[in-house]
Amino acid sequence: MIVLGIETSCDETGIALLDEHARVLAQALHSQVELHGAYGGVVPELAARDHIRRVLPLLEQCLQQAGCSRSDIEAIAVTVGPGLAGALLVGASIAYGLGYALSVPVIGVHHMEGHLLSPLLSEPAPRFPFVALLVSGGHTQLMQVERVGGYVLLGETLDDAAGEAFDKTAQLLGLGYPGGPAVSRLARQGVPGTYHFPRPLLTSGDLNFSFSGLKTAVLTAVRQRDTLSEQAKADIARAFVDAVVDVLVAKSLAALRLTGLRRLVVAGGVGANLQLREQLAESARKHELELYFPPAGLCTDNGAMIALAGLMHLRAGQPPARWDFEVRPRWPLASH
Ligand code: KG4
Ligand code: ZN
Repeated sequence: MIVLGIETSCDETGIALLDEHARVLAQALHSQVELHGAYGGVVPELAARDHIRRVLPLLEQCLQQAGCSRSDIEAIAVTVGPGLAGALLVGASIAYGLGYALSVPVIGVHHMEGHLLSPLLSEPAPRFPFVALLVSGGHTQLMQVERVGGYVLLGETLDDAAGEAFDKTAQLLGLGYPGGPAVSRLARQGVPGTYHFPRPLLTSGDLNFSFSGLKTAVLTAVRQRDTLSEQAKADIARAFVDAVVDVLVAKSLAALRLTGLRRLVVAGGVGANLQLREQLAESARKHELELYFPPAGLCTDNGAMIALAGLMHLRAGQPPARWDFEVRPRWPLASH
């Protein structure tokens, strides 16, 4: 069986073909980073228009890579939410149109479920149950995962997502969009302890997060001086990353304690952050926990994770064929 995955919820067009063993036969990605760079963030209308241009050429590229044709596709998985309405509609329209033409089932996938299941594409793959730390540009959540479709929300951010905090900090430091990789690179040159930022909700006793105060702390530090030297910028980036990572690690460990689970799965764009990975790995060694990440390159948005989520739903039971569809720009995963 070949499953096609289509991801267009935000600023990346991701296409992938998976076989029935969840092996990635081909994948292609187009990032709109340059398109939005000049605006300091994603412009929804531009995103949607660019997805229109990219989906079919990327699909052809994947078919060529995998050495197969459209008629070999036996199911299509597409992100139908959450995300930007126009961008979601592009992927969904193409997926349902193609599904109708090929007479194959189309599975509407929750974007965060794609992230959450993406570590299953790694070798070795985690077994259920596990705690998932989902850290992306739009979400910061801790989820107890019993099985595919069995998701209990343990805690989430009360305001900004971790990725959003990275992006805003990057903007304040003049690093451009998207900020995550740039802030973490700069932080490596920073001297720890030069600045100290708050660890929001670290001792709140629950599993919720809050990152908007941290952004204000960065803003205050930036405004304290007329001009910032490169070293001062690096020191601020370092203090910011240390604060975010401390909170994410502490809350993940608390979630494992609360659920009695020993397996932690990290997914979403911020999961690519090396400082977070290093600190989690150290905690995992110390507390004898199992730690899993998606394969390299599949932390941020991609088509493979969407194809995988579709494949896993297919395994759980074939959905009835239907050609009407809707997108859900807002869609909590726990009610999935
Ligand atoms: O999962 P993702 O690709 O898209 C959403 O679903 O939001 O996550 C994008 C977010 C952005 O905020 C980006 O700045 C952040 O992930 N990000 C990182 C890193 N790479 C991407 N944050 C910190 N360190 C990174 N290396
Ligand atoms: Zn994402």
